[in-house]
Amino acid sequence: MNDIPELNLPHVRIAHPEHVSEVIQNMIKDGHDKLQVVADFDRTLSKYTHRGQICSTCHNVLEEGHVLPDFYKDEARALRDHYFPIETNPKLTVEEKIPVMVEWWTKAHDLLTKCHIKRDDVRKMVENSTARLRDGCTWFFDQLQASEIPLLIFSAGIGDVIIEVIKHQATLHDNMKVVSNYLEYDEQGQMTGFQGDMIHVYNKNEGAIHDSDYFQNLEHRNNIILMGDSLGDLHMADGAVGVQNKLKIGFLNVKVAESLDLYMKRYDIVILEDETLDVVNAILQKVLQSKQ
Ligand code: C5P
Ligand code: MG
Repeated sequence: MNDIPELNLPHVRIAHPEHVSEVIQNMIKDGHDKLQVVADFDRTLSKYTHRGQICSTCHNVLEEGHVLPDFYKDEARALRDHYFPIETNPKLTVEEKIPVMVEWWTKAHDLLTKCHIKRDDVRKMVENSTARLRDGCTWFFDQLQASEIPLLIFSAGIGDVIIEVIKHQATLHDNMKVVSNYLEYDEQGQMTGFQGDMIHVYNKNEGAIHDSDYFQNLEHRNNIILMGDSLGDLHMADGAVGVQNKLKIGFLNVKVAESLDLYMKRYDIVILEDETLDVVNAILQKVLQSKQ
């Protein structure tokens, strides 16, 4: 790890340093042509805190500002107060959590549908929100674009919000694909519900992206950097084919002491309470430097 000093920082935890070192060396050797990146959005590309203050997730964005009525904000907050501790409880299994998460997303999406928001409202809400991309995210996006490395953003948040956050705070490049829950609108531009099957935190192993030809088309890119903040994110690249080297990077933002052991067992690199993408960027830089 001596050539990537960021990996030796105290908030970076690695259960098997030799394995991580080998995977990174392989990725450097293979270069950017063999690399693809799969990343979660909320609290992975976006911050959990900004200078110590908790930031919005995609869903939280809709509770900020004055666009949506108080009844929406009150009910949405009450749902989160009930369900978020269950989502992040390390003592419950994924199987136990799945039906509860389906219940949360269903109630939250039904509640939003009752508000009949307009297409333009999302842009306004994002502009005035506390959702923040991690420090270094613009560099990360720009470098992936410059080297034509595909980036799949796979989120249980709201696609429309993600697109606006990225456009507002960085650049949405054509090597980026955002798979998420997208709002459905009628001809007057009024929201009528959500498109397609619901994506929640623990069903990222299934759904349209794995059935599509996305991963098939990237078959020659055998090396994957996977980034997430939930244990459900570990399955985002399950549909990938011919994988030779996978580096799983986990951001642990909440219940750190209780969850650390579990995260270190499942993620190759665990980054604790960080507001930046510095560790990921340091690894990416090494891979890009190996460019011929
Ligand atoms: O992008 P990602 O897959 O991380 O988005 C899901 C996140 O959004 C979850 O971690 C969850 O805590 C949060 N969420 C929320 N309000 C909801 C549903 C999900 O804040 N109604
Ligand atoms: Mg997340």
